[in-house]
Amino acid sequence: MSDKAQLHIGDQSFDLPAIEGTEGEKAIDISKLRDQSGYVTLDVGYKNTGATKSAITFLDGEKGILKYRGYPIEQLAEKSSFIEVAYLLIYGELPSEQQLHNFEYEISHHTLVHEDMKKFFDGFPSKSHPMGQLSSLIGALAAFNPESLKSGLTADAVNLEIIKLIAKMSTIVSWIYKKSLGHPVIYPWNKYDYVTNFLHMTFGQRTEDYTPDPVVVSAMNTLLILHADHEQNCSTSTVRIVGSSDANLYASISAGISALWGPLHGGANQAVIEMLEQIKADGGDTDKFIAKAKDKNDPFRLMGFGHRVYKNFDPRAKIIKKACDDILAKLGVQDEVLDIAKRLEEVALQDSYFVERKLYPNVDFYSGIIYRALGFPTEMFTVLFALGRLPGWIAQWKEMKENKEPIGRPRQIYVGATNRDYTEINNR
Ligand code: SDX
Repeated sequence: MSDKAQLHIGDQSFDLPAIEGTEGEKAIDISKLRDQSGYVTLDVGYKNTGATKSAITFLDGEKGILKYRGYPIEQLAEKSSFIEVAYLLIYGELPSEQQLHNFEYEISHHTLVHEDMKKFFDGFPSKSHPMGQLSSLIGALAAFNPESLKSGLTADAVNLEIIKLIAKMSTIVSWIYKKSLGHPVIYPWNKYDYVTNFLHMTFGQRTEDYTPDPVVVSAMNTLLILHADHEQNCSTSTVRIVGSSDANLYASISAGISALWGPLHGGANQAVIEMLEQIKADGGDTDKFIAKAKDKNDPFRLMGFGHRVYKNFDPRAKIIKKACDDILAKLGVQDEVLDIAKRLEEVALQDSYFVERKLYPNVDFYSGIIYRALGFPTEMFTVLFALGRLPGWIAQWKEMKENKEPIGRPRQIYVGATNRDYTEINNR
């Protein structure tokens, strides 16, 4: 590979360093381009632009490969736990038994939230969207942890905020669900591991003992692992750029939650189920909806299909699709929309429109079917995506801070009105 690129503009030429990552990704470093040439690059949506160098997650969209800190997602989904994967993403290595125990102990002893946080819960309309509540509540945690607002926090102080956030987010997510039902919240119970505790707070009742089904615990671990990180996606880029202004961790994660909410991003898992239900209510004619998805005059998109980076199968979708069959069988759940989803996938993957555009099922296509089988309402699906993505957001925010990256501030090409003078209103 050449160590530089040459840019020729008119009779001038500029040498730009070329760099290669550990997995063979190549980039042209343009960080000095404007100083050298007076030009900036333009790449709306950053489809061809690298924002950083990162050692956290590698994915190959053409080959459908995803690895966290070098470990293939297939191995982690099969053999690891969500908290162990969280440790791996945030600290860079798989923990020893003692390190994992300490991590879990610290987290379990920070799961309580300040009782005054309940005033925020009580302030939301009962049917307000859980993602709007979650973004507000996570941002509100900064008010209860004023030490997190200081600049130049020590590594130990940052680590304490990381532990608190991972711990309290599971409590907050379960309480959002309980509040949506008008049920009393369930407090965390330190005898449980992280995922069991979350399920206990979510589905448990004050009036009787509740021990989550091991099948459900295992399925939740797998789903949370699969969502844990995905390099520089929309919400992670949001977390990094907000954190680059030296905003605190809670504010940065709150911004990431808002970005994830969009139906083109994490909100797709809710949109997929709503789409499948629409198809079911319309008689289940998948060909009709495939035609709508292809029709440029029709705003309908096949939610859960396509991806900015994956131009092959999303490896997470493969794992979730298999888990769908296993979990629904183990739970004895029949879900007609699963059959519709499988028919949609089958038809789409044979249709030239989808094949030419390399549109494959993504992580959101099947995940909602499992969440629903586990007992979650549709509007909670993206909140569960956020709970899974939290360690990745934290790891990326931490890496950005440790690398002392500058505040993010993209340039633009101005195409508006050129110079003109103010006119009095009676002259317009
Ligand atoms: C996530 O980035 C990440 O890593 C995200 C994520 C993560 O883990 O963080 O993986 C999670 O967000 C997964 C994606 C969830 N979103 C959806 O399922 C929504 C449906 N999909 C899309 O809207 C779309 O595919 C995107 C937003 C995911 C990607 O959009 P791009 O890369 O900007 O591609 P595009 O919109 O330019 O589409 C290219 C072509 C267009 O057709 P032409 O103009 O070339 O004729 O493909 C078409 C699009 O119209 N197309 C679709 C389609 N997705 C793209 N047509 C019908 N249905 C679709 N779903």
